[in-house]
Order: sequence, then structure tokens, then C-alpha cells
Amino acid sequence: MNCKISSVRSLKSTDNLLIITNNNNLKETSEFLAENESAVLKNLFTNGARYAVFNRGNAVVVVLGLPSTKAPNNRKEKARKEGCDLLDVFKNYFISEITILDHSKERLALDVAEGIALGNYKFVKYYKDPSKKAGPLKKLKIHTSALKSAEVKYLAIVVEATCKARDLINEPLSYLTAVQLSKEYKKIGKEAGLKVEVFDKKKIQSLKMGGLLAVNKGSFDPPTFSIIEWKPAKAKNKKPIILVGKGVVYDTGGLSLKPTANSMDFMKSDMGGAAVIGGTMLGVAKCKLPLHIIGLVPSTDNRPGNNAYVPGDVIKMYSGSTVEVLNTDAEGRMLLADALHFAKKFKPELVIDFATLTGSAARAVGPHGFVMMGNADDAIKAKVKESGFRVHERMVELPMWEEYGEMLKSDIADMKNIGGSYAGAITAGKFLEHFTDFPWLHFDIAGSAFLQQQDSYRGKNGTGVGVRLMLDFLSNY
Ligand code: BES
Ligand code: ZN
Ligand code: ZN
Repeated sequence: MNCKISSVRSLKSTDNLLIITNNNNLKETSEFLAENESAVLKNLFTNGARYAVFNRGNAVVVVLGLPSTKAPNNRKEKARKEGCDLLDVFKNYFISEITILDHSKERLALDVAEGIALGNYKFVKYYKDPSKKAGPLKKLKIHTSALKSAEVKYLAIVVEATCKARDLINEPLSYLTAVQLSKEYKKIGKEAGLKVEVFDKKKIQSLKMGGLLAVNKGSFDPPTFSIIEWKPAKAKNKKPIILVGKGVVYDTGGLSLKPTANSMDFMKSDMGGAAVIGGTMLGVAKCKLPLHIIGLVPSTDNRPGNNAYVPGDVIKMYSGSTVEVLNTDAEGRMLLADALHFAKKFKPELVIDFATLTGSAARAVGPHGFVMMGNADDAIKAKVKESGFRVHERMVELPMWEEYGEMLKSDIADMKNIGGSYAGAITAGKFLEHFTDFPWLHFDIAGSAFLQQQDSYRGKNGTGVGVRLMLDFLSNY
């Protein structure tokens, strides 16, 4: 359990305080400090300190001085990062509860709190003594003189949803099989009031979801197809918005076994897209967004065992199109194609998929964002980019020119499942496009879903990226 976020109206003298201020305007903050403390603070900030700590015996007061930068989104991101950095202070002073007071001109308390809370997250389930390994903070209170308590509530939901996605990504295959993933959605659904339906192998077979079944052939564990629905009585949209996530709970590459040393080490994270759906649907329901939204997650592991699909196989997909498999490691698109075809029957207003789809996308943007493609109209693209800047989950759009589609031509089937030696993220996108007939966006999150090195509040390992983006986008939809 990560720290609990709540709002408070009053303060006690024993409360640990985190005062956020602008370091060139300390007037309001001085009222909370003794004269000598104010003098020390001024001196520290003049000399370039980012924060000051005053230990009063019964309480600690931390003052964080944020510079006034012009661009609002940079300012917010700086605030998150500074918040995250303060966790070291909390640890060193044994602070497990703190109350934030906002004296900053730009109202950055929520951003600082977001950085603190997300940075405080640790995946501790498998330690013998989990509590010893958890982040230092148990309670994060935000004084609401300058904010509405609804804003604090929204932040708490965003953090919870992101951490839920991180938990799912960090779970190893030894726990999180496709069947278990579908059970996790059931749990989320029960907690938040979502309708969750799960197709088992038999149902998937009867529907002839050939792509999902092909990837599953080498596996000991059955596949699942989860449908998670939020349908409030007064939804603003007549036709649903559909979110699709790649749910490959482990990717060995199959018989085209992953060729790069150590590249399999973190392939439990190949359901990063499915985690975005889990976190986002949880958040959507807890926020009670007035939108009809459906999450779809096709799931299996990808293994070379048993009766595994082989390079050269021709697979009849759920849509009826045939695919010549020339690399079993290009498995994500096989199951996403079936899910996209399934989405058609809802006549959706917009479909957005999230997938750790290609090494090509990861090489293009690294851990700092996503690759985006799709045919949704420019207004939607502009909105999602805006959200990306606001929550600092940025994206770059790649083209979907016809020529890339020609790279998927097969000698014996409607399509191959791989393109050529270049533009791998785009040919993967073109493959998916074949199975769409609706406004659609595709996010390849291969570079940022899982980090092998700590990156401030995004943490190490599962990041949950995509959830904050979607919650911001959908709240403003
Ligand atoms: N899951 C991988 C993509 C991936 C790579 C995710 C790195 C996270 C980090 C995907 O299934 C895959 O193996 N893609 C292949 C496709 C290729 C065989 C056409 C790739 O990108 O190398
Ligand atoms: Zn693969
Ligand atoms: Zn994969």
C-alpha cells in the first residue's frame, strides 16, 4: 500500500509541514517560521539551496523553494521531480506523515504531491518483510486553503491508478498468467464498480480468434480475453470509447526466441499496455467520468513450448484475413489485431491501443515518451498531445504512409506479420491499421513501460505510463 493522500483544513503544531514557496517571495512562508528560521531560509535560498529543513523536536518543517519558470508544463514537471527528491529528506528524518502547505504563486502543491506519492511507490510484495522495504511516507495530507478537496481526491485516484498499473507490470509470470490477469480485472471491477467479462479459451476458440490462439499454442497456460466496461447512466458519448491493451504476460519471442542477450529479463512487462487499461479503467470508475468506456485485453504468454506456432505458419485471424507468420516474436500485433476486430462491433467513437509493441519504437524515443500513430482526426491528436505535455507523458507521431503497408505483402497470405529491416514501429502500426474501421490511435510504449534505471517519480521497473495520460485525456474529453 502506497501513502494515503487526503485533504485537511486545519493544522496542529505537531504536524510535519512541507511548505511550497517561490524562493524569491517568502513573505507568506515567514509567518510560519521563527525569525531566525526565516533568516536562515533566506540565506540558504540566496546561496542556491532548493529546500531547507527545520527540525523543531516535535515536528519538522521542510520548505521547498520552486523557481518561477515561464512554461507551465515545465513548471509542473519540475515540481513533481523536486517533490520526489524530498523523499530522501523524509527518510532521513523518519517522517512518515506530512502536510503540504501551498504558498507558491502557481499553485504547485498537487504537482509536488504527485511527485512525492509516485516516488514513494515500491513493489514490496515479495520481500519477507514488506513494510521495511516500503517508501518512507504513509500519509500525505494537503492543506486545502488554496485548492478544492475534489482536486486532491482526483490526484489520489490518479496515483492509485498509476500504482495499480505498476503493480501489474511488476508481477512476474509466476503469479501473473493470462488467467490471473483476468482475475485482477475482476478484482478491480468489483472494487470500482466496473462490469468485467472474461472469455476463456473455449469461448476464444468458438469465436475463432486465430491471432490470440496462435500465440498461445506454445503455452502451458490458456489465453484470456477481458472486457471491462464503464457505462454511466448519463454518458456524454453515444458510441463508446474503446481502450485496447497488449496483454502478453511474458514474451520469450516464441520459437523465434529473443536473440539479444538479457532482452528477455524484463519481458514480464510485455503486458504494459494491459496495465494501462487496468489502471485507467480503475481511475475512470473511481472518478465516475461521464463517458462510456470499454477496455479490451487479449492475453497470453508467448513461448516456444508444446505445439508452438512456427515461422512460415499461415494463421486465419478473427477478422477472416490470413497472416503469414515470419517471426513469432512479432506476437503482440497478432492478438491486438483480433481485439481491434472485436472492437468494431461496438461501433466505437474512438479506439486507442497501448502496446509494448516494438524495439524499434523503444530505440526511437527511449524511455522519454511514446510513439503514436493513427487516423483519428487532428483535433483528437491535438488533445492527446496536450494531455501528454500536461502530465509529461509525451509522444511523437510517426507517419502511416501507404509505402510502409506494402512492406507487409506476403507471397501466400493476405499479409506477413513483419515488415523489413527499417521502420519497424511503423510497419507494426500498419499491420494493426488493417484491422480497424474506426477513428483510431496506437501508442507504442515499449521504451517507457518498464525502466531498468530509476527515473525520478517514474521510478524503476513498471512505470504505469499511459494511465496519467489517459485519465487527463478522458477527464478533458
Ligand atoms: N515485446 C516486444 C517488443 C519490446 C521490445 C518491448 C523491447 C519492450 C522492449 C515485441 O513483441 C517484439 O518482440 N517485437 C519485435 C518485432 C520484430 C520481430 C518484427 C521487435 O521489435 O524486435
Ligand atoms: Zn515479441
Ligand atoms: Zn511482445
